[in-house]
Amino acid sequence: MPKFVQSSIDEVLRRCDLPEIASSYMQLRRNGTDFVGLCPFHREKTPSFHISADKQLFYCFGCGSGGNLIDFIKKIENLDFVDTIRFLAERSGVTLEEEVYSPEVQKKHDERERIYKMNKLAAKKYVANLPGEDAKHAQEYAKGRGLTRDIITKYGIGFAKESWSDMCDYLRENVFENDEIVTAGLAVRNEKGHVYDKFRNRLMFPVIDVRGNVIAFSGRALDDSPAKYMNSPETPVFHKGDNLFGLNVAKQYGIKDGLILVEGNMDAVSLNTFGFPNAVAGLGTALTENQASLLKRYSSMVYVCYDGDEAGQKAAAKAIDILSAAGVKLKVLSYTGAKDPDEFLRKKGVESFKAVMASALTATEYKIMKVRQSYNLVSSQDKADFIDKAAEILAENPNPVEREIYIKRIAKETDISVASIAAQVNKIIHSKNRKEFKKAEREAKTVPGMPQKTPRAGVMPQAASTASYKTERMLLNLMFFSNPAFRVAKAELTPEEFSTDTHRALFEAMLSFKSEGESCDASLFFSTLPDELKTYAADILYKEYIGDAVVAIKDNIGKIKKQKLTERINQLAAEGRLSEINELIKKENERRNNRD
Ligand code: UTP
Ligand code: MN
Repeated sequence: MPKFVQSSIDEVLRRCDLPEIASSYMQLRRNGTDFVGLCPFHREKTPSFHISADKQLFYCFGCGSGGNLIDFIKKIENLDFVDTIRFLAERSGVTLEEEVYSPEVQKKHDERERIYKMNKLAAKKYVANLPGEDAKHAQEYAKGRGLTRDIITKYGIGFAKESWSDMCDYLRENVFENDEIVTAGLAVRNEKGHVYDKFRNRLMFPVIDVRGNVIAFSGRALDDSPAKYMNSPETPVFHKGDNLFGLNVAKQYGIKDGLILVEGNMDAVSLNTFGFPNAVAGLGTALTENQASLLKRYSSMVYVCYDGDEAGQKAAAKAIDILSAAGVKLKVLSYTGAKDPDEFLRKKGVESFKAVMASALTATEYKIMKVRQSYNLVSSQDKADFIDKAAEILAENPNPVEREIYIKRIAKETDISVASIAAQVNKIIHSKNRKEFKKAEREAKTVPGMPQKTPRAGVMPQAASTASYKTERMLLNLMFFSNPAFRVAKAELTPEEFSTDTHRALFEAMLSFKSEGESCDASLFFSTLPDELKTYAADILYKEYIGDAVVAIKDNIGKIKKQKLTERINQLAAEGRLSEINELIKKENERRNNRD
């Protein structure tokens, strides 16, 4: 992993404008020098996401996420730091200068590079194995599953020979060592220390990331053996929940029209065979948040098309919730008469599948359809129960027009009046709102606000007393934005005088950031902060104190010292060390006289 010199990162930040870039991801409304919108990082109905144009910072008063442009892009594009910097550099035309690697970074980087190389070799070998004499049964199997030569090439599908050492031998010939082969997940070491091929007698699907790296393999058994698929373990280049099968192929063809999310590798491949190259599969895990953000990054619409059995439908319900929470627009494909999309296409053909696509359900429609299945709407009790359940689902939908459409439909179907169903839905919404309001009120009471806004609950560090917490936050704000105030704080305060670890760490970070050049650029400051400090820092620095900063900071320093002094005096008093108390008070008076 390359490391860029700080000055080129700073240059990227200088050339980019956070509100401008953010507005390509979300709707922003101007509000003075601020921009406000619905937070892209959590689900909300009223906007609490703010961007300060002059500070180039964002902060969400709802979920507490905050930071500078780099943090924003990292989060929204689901990129690591290096790729974020590359992404922004490209956008802003900055040529990045790389730092010399530290030995341990170099080592990790080399390890990953070796695995990529090994995986690519292995993938090529699997591909070369498939047409072989000893692979007749695999060819038959592939043919039986409708895999054309063209589709086999597109996905790089291959064959792992029925051998304990075929792959290992080959990789060793190419000067890879046993340890590396095991780390890459292509071989397994048994208790006796013997190393043997992990994939044997399987149809091999390489998992390829969007950059074209082979990151893992998924091997399908060629018979009905219970271990249907065998997958690569977690390796330095592969984390199952972070990737999707087929995204590399989908990305090359048609992603604009949306992505079709299926469960099985076979389903994704099969969809492509039938003219839907925009299919991806979840690699056998329940859909993760990272996979959801990956989907969001590549497509504006996701069609969820899971297996028809109960397990598949349960998994679909979970996936829908995760996708909605990630802010992904989605539709659900509902079909009958086949166990999965692959079987559906083979049995009923492309036109039928197109019809399923055309009548795709919204998340609300799908959920209501699912609950309806467990009620017999002829019975009045069932009818009432169904409406209760449906009202719960409708109350989750923030769009009143959509709610009305569905309410009308349910009214027609159950022969219950629109008014009663609407009343039921509104009751739930009101009670939810009341709860949320109460919660917000409680939070506002327990957490003091500084500078102007109330930080979200949970931001306030545990140990701080309310008063010193507030004072210290203001002080950090003052010393960051005002250099005269900074000099006062630097001269008079030590990190130990802060009441929480977070404030102490921020004070130290500011000292070292501002000590050269006294920069007040919050965005640059953020790129020096560790992630765990960013929420606090964004909350503290989001607004700038207006007024005489030096007077204010002296006042705050006084309060902090006094608080410390009081604590110390109480402690000494409890121990009966009265002369020391006098001594302390004398010293404090001297300090004040000297300063003023
Ligand atoms: P499926 O059993 O639906 O697989 O599991 P499939 O790809 O549709 O295969 P066919 O059509 O039955 O041949 C869905 C996904 O779950 C993972 C695989 O990624 C598979 O594609 N899986 C399944 C495993 O990892 N291990 C297994 O044993 C089974
Ligand atoms: Mn399947």
